[in-house]
Amino acid sequence: MVIAIDGPAASGKGTLARRIAAHLGRPHLDTGLLYRAVALALLDRGLPLTDSAGAARIAEALDVATLEEDRLRSREIGEAASLVSVHPGVRGALLDLQRRFAAQPGGAVLDGRDIGTVVCPEAEVKIYVTASPEERARRRFRELAGRGEPTTFDDILADILRRDTRDSERSAAPMRPAADARHLDTTSLDADAAFARALDMLPAGVA
Ligand code: DC
Repeated sequence: MVIAIDGPAASGKGTLARRIAAHLGRPHLDTGLLYRAVALALLDRGLPLTDSAGAARIAEALDVATLEEDRLRSREIGEAASLVSVHPGVRGALLDLQRRFAAQPGGAVLDGRDIGTVVCPEAEVKIYVTASPEERARRRFRELAGRGEPTTFDDILADILRRDTRDSERSAAPMRPAADARHLDTTSLDADAAFARALDMLPAGVA
């Protein structure tokens, strides 16, 4: 069974996907990390984020086993990932990798922006996770401050709004809910409550 969890930045989709995967004993792929890794590799090589051919070459050679999660989680890399994710060549190169991950025996849980619409349109379970921009900015602020990254709430809110616009307005696989996705608004839910709601969305007998 494939479980597709999509939604905007800091909506809680990553935490939710990780918990569902652990609960069901299935592998989990945070697909945002793939775009983040492509962005980081471009920056490390001194290439501009607008270099679509260079970005596509890096995406084709990406090895999921070598993702350095700590460096990838920064605010700067999130913004850079959103910029490289507009290149169709990058998205195409990452598509195979994501589909192979989803095709593992027993299934998998993938979270991102286009899992239910493009990567796994046949997924048995699709959940589109949202929260208000202000609540998402509060969460991201706490997370980054906890990691010692100097930042302000207003800067993060501006980042989130800019990323929402770019991710949903790009022409290649824009962020949007699949027609058959269940919607989960986590604005007033903590992680435990969101997890409980998500479990209710799984087919009977699975959770
Ligand atoms: O989920 P995240 O914040 O780590 O994602 C970083 C960026 O990567 C996001 O702003 C857009 C891009 N992305 C994407 O285009 N498609 C996905 N399936 C996942 C992420």
